Amino acid sequence: KGDEQQSQDYLFKIVMIGDSAVGKSNLLARFARNEFYPNSKSTIGVEFQTQKMHIEGKEIKAQIWDTAGQERFKAVTSAYYRGAVGALVVYDISRRQTFDSIGRWLNELHTHSDMNVVIILVGNKTDLKDEREVNTEEGKALAEAHGLFFIETSALDSSNVTAAFQTVVEEIY
Ligand code: GTP
Ligand code: MG
Repeated sequence: KGDEQQSQDYLFKIVMIGDSAVGKSNLLARFARNEFYPNSKSTIGVEFQTQKMHIEGKEIKAQIWDTAGQERFKAVTSAYYRGAVGALVVYDISRRQTFDSIGRWLNELHTHSDMNVVIILVGNKTDLKDEREVNTEEGKALAEAHGLFFIETSALDSSNVTAAFQTVVEEIY
């Protein structure tokens, strides 16, 4: 959108945050490599993947950063957030506690990143229909209250995974 982004030559840093085991790493694995790990371990340290995307005929590189949601593995400092222009803030629709943490994650994001960072609230694991603890309307309402985009996804069955990343990148662009 702005001149700052254009001068970055279409390399967009996007961060993934949210409680442990909500599926951040699997959303990224599904998006970047079309892979899913049923028994993945907690992320240790910081990992990132660079994914080429096309928006309005332009090639954009999304550099997507992923770290542990769990406090004891937390490598997150201001360096993690520095320069981020987009964020996926993820919870697990089958664990209300992870939804209750969203306010805390947004505070952390806003403390460490630019005011204009594009944020999408992501309710992951929609495949767990019978275990749902957070309904779609609640997710939407929270997103609206904070001025965020909103989407529900499943890294397991792939639904809306590309759309979640695409929404952020399109809005940054
Ligand atoms: P940390 O690295 O500890 O912060 O966790 P994370 O948010 O990266 O979670 P991760 O991607 O490692 O997934 C945690 C567990 O949830 C794994 O067993 C995944 O297989 C599972 N999982 C991730 N996404 C989904 C999903 O969409 N549906 C279902 N049913 N399980 C999922
Ligand atoms: Mg992880």
